[in-house]
Amino acid sequence: MSKNPPALASNPYYEGVPDYMTEVYDWAYVDPNWVKALDRNLVVRVLLFLNDQRLMRRYLAHIQPGHRVWQLAHVYGDLVQRAADKVGPTGEFHLTDVTPIQIEHGSEKLKQMPWTRVIRSDAAEFAGIAAHDGTNRYDVICSFFLLHEVPEQKKREIVDHMLSKLTVGAKAIFVDYHNPKRWQPIRYILKLVNHYLEPFANALWDKEISSYASHAEQFNWEKETIFGGVYQSVIVTRKP
Ligand SMILES: C[S@@+](CC[C@H](N)C(=O)[O-])C[C@H]1O[C@@H](n2cnc3c(N)ncnc32)[C@H](O)[C@@H]1O
Repeated sequence: MSKNPPALASNPYYEGVPDYMTEVYDWAYVDPNWVKALDRNLVVRVLLFLNDQRLMRRYLAHIQPGHRVWQLAHVYGDLVQRAADKVGPTGEFHLTDVTPIQIEHGSEKLKQMPWTRVIRSDAAEFAGIAAHDGTNRYDVICSFFLLHEVPEQKKREIVDHMLSKLTVGAKAIFVDYHNPKRWQPIRYILKLVNHYLEPFANALWDKEISSYASHAEQFNWEKETIFGGVYQSVIVTRKP
């Protein structure tokens, strides 16, 4: 049950939005005025300390034409178009997000690409959309900087749900924060940012993403750290 005040609950942009989004990230992801100002490549570039392109490549490099791809949440800038463009008209690109304004922005960006679908759903609950052959399989499932923004229980639900959709040969990709090396000055900036703005992010400094999976042993986990440990990409495949 949402704890949003009645004035917000009757605002369509807040309807059904989880409490952690309105309590912690209202200005960043829910309020349409802020979202309009923030949805640009430059914002992503600055937030990621100029590492945006190399982090996006950790995801985009795994997409091939004709793939079925599920991206769990909208990302500011042009990442969704670039991913959908790589999939191309012989594949399918499904974008989910839990917030109405993000669905609006994602739909606008992808409206010229009929092989895409934008679906309002909590990433932990998305049932998936059946392929033409009737199977409900994805070749690539990507969480791009989503995990650090959700509470611990939601992290577990999202990871388990992603992995439940992972067939042999498919990849789940996590690109997110990590525990920066002590010599990395960004570490001390992020400590402040996490303290004041990102209460769920520190957990990724202390825990491996695999620790959120109920059956981690059924999967191969390939982790790479980037930019002095500030970021990580983790590629997960199901063991045969
Ligand atoms: C991907 S994350 C952060 C991305 C990155 N910081 C950026 O530049 O956009 C932000 C998105 O996650 C969405 N989100 C938060 N919780 C979610 C959930 N449980 N399921 C799906 N989307 C969610 C938010 O609505 C928001 O659009």
